[in-house]
Amino acid sequence: MSPRIALATARAARGLDEDMAPLLAALQAAGARPSAVDWDDPSVDWAAFDLVLPRSTWDYSERLPAFMDWLGAVGACTRLLNPVPVLRWNIDKHYLATLAAAGVAIVPSRFVEPGDDAAAHLDALLAAHPASADVVVKPAVGAGSRDAERHPRTARAAALAHIGRLLAAGRSALLQPYLDGVDARGETALVHFDGIFSHAIRKGPLLHRAAPATQALFAAEDIRARAADADEQALARQVLAALPFDSAPVYARVDLIRADDGTPCLLELELIEPSLFLDHAPAAAARFAACLMRHLAR
Ligand SMILES: Nc1ncnc2c1ncn2[C@@H]1O[C@H](COP(=O)(O)OP(=O)(O)O)[C@@H](O)[C@H]1O
Ligand SMILES: [Mg+2]
Repeated sequence: MSPRIALATARAARGLDEDMAPLLAALQAAGARPSAVDWDDPSVDWAAFDLVLPRSTWDYSERLPAFMDWLGAVGACTRLLNPVPVLRWNIDKHYLATLAAAGVAIVPSRFVEPGDDAAAHLDALLAAHPASADVVVKPAVGAGSRDAERHPRTARAAALAHIGRLLAAGRSALLQPYLDGVDARGETALVHFDGIFSHAIRKGPLLHRAAPATQALFAAEDIRARAADADEQALARQVLAALPFDSAPVYARVDLIRADDGTPCLLELELIEPSLFLDHAPAAAARFAACLMRHLAR
């Protein structure tokens, strides 16, 4: 029997997930029966699938408790990839601190928790990065650049108001210097299947100075194929080796930006529902489909 695979998406993401069509086609070609299913559709019998893959469940950060419940329920009745502990760990950018403690070069990050003195955190970040013209404020749990903004260092009140809004909603905030190398060079995303490098893309800069956060499900992105440099490949390998799990994630996207001195730094590690940019690299969809079929055969 060919295995049934659910590619979990969201109503709001229908038509927007560019990996959906190539992945459906590649899984079919590999002998599976894949279908796109809304993660919050109450009529779906998840146990009827041999594998569930969060593919574009991109509205989860607005509905976190429901999504966490869904992960638990689906993980309990069928195979979910990445596995639930990996998904849970990756949902909150506090993992950056864990990876930094393991020696990974990350974009300098300061977390502000509800109840903290936001002004003291902001001033400490600005003092630690005197050459940075701008500071980025974003939620620790977030995706698609939603609720992320770039504030000039002189716009202290606007930055504090932004942090205050996140904290008032019970969210943790993440403060970073804006690394303006991204303006010329973009960020590099390195996609791995089972810990093995597949392909890389360049993503253009997304945050405009003092501009409001995107109101869309995700900010429009400028994506091009890119060859990852040796030092970027090395950092991505280091990130994957530092993960607190026994085996490599089935899919992982490592997003890097170069710091002012040129060193690549981890911006984000995507293990939940990353855009994989399958159409930007020859045979990437077939590689991912083959990887999923190998897991199903285990
Ligand atoms: N410290 C930073 N310096 C430069 N650009 C940043 C920084 N933080 C975020 N950005 C920009 O904002 C985008 C979204 O931020 P990211 O950390 O990837 O969060 P998410 O994709 O989960 O919303 C990035 O792709 C990048 O263009
Ligand atoms: Mg990102």
